[in-house]
Amino acid sequence: MESWRTELKDGREIILRLLATGDKKALLNMVNALSPEALLWGNPPYDEGKIDRWMTGVGKGLSLVAVHDGRIVGIAGIHTPSLPRARGIGNMMIYLHQDFHGVGLGTAMTERLLTLARNEGLHRIGLEVVEDNNAAVRLYRKLGFKIEGTLRDAYYGADGKYHRMLVMGLLVH
Ligand SMILES: CC(C)(COP(=O)(O)OP(=O)(O)OC[C@H]1O[C@@H](n2cnc3c(N)ncnc32)[C@H](O)[C@@H]1OP(=O)(O)O)[C@@H](O)C(=O)NCCC(=O)NCCS
Repeated sequence: MESWRTELKDGREIILRLLATGDKKALLNMVNALSPEALLWGNPPYDEGKIDRWMTGVGKGLSLVAVHDGRIVGIAGIHTPSLPRARGIGNMMIYLHQDFHGVGLGTAMTERLLTLARNEGLHRIGLEVVEDNNAAVRLYRKLGFKIEGTLRDAYYGADGKYHRMLVMGLLVH
């Protein structure tokens, strides 16, 4: 299987490769080890059902995992619904283990995903992100995603407050 080696800002080495059938257990281990901070702006529960939904990306060429020392430490994917009116349109997600935040892994994974998306001939990649999720918003903007709109009170935070969400999109082709 194709894989890509990348060095993080702190010198650690990561292998990026496509998600594979045998990855389910390692992904469960990763989500079970995520800290409350890493999940702060996510969408719980992170259970087997969610992993099964991620696993539907196997074989589609648009789901990547990051492997460090044989352990999965991140997943990023673009889901492309197979509907005629959604042709070429994908939705992106990314989750990294907290030990790998802020050292360039999100950038490396998203850049690689965007290359794969271009090669697949995708037209648009969209996503929704909580406005307060600074790292994610900064990452997406840096890689060319534009803010297309704001959803008011669209996310009920762990802090018991409603938060705005941003609709972001990138036109690939
Ligand atoms: C969001 C996430 C993928 C970002 O990945 P990352 O590896 O930490 O990001 P990078 O190190 O590649 O940094 C990307 C940019 O964001 C900036 N950044 C990183 N952490 C930041 C923070 N806490 N606040 C503000 N900016 C931050 C970096 O400086 C970098 O910008 P720069 O290159 O201009 O300096 C990662 O933090 C994560 O998995 N979070 C939990 C899950 C999540 O929120 N997913 C997104 C749901 S929509």
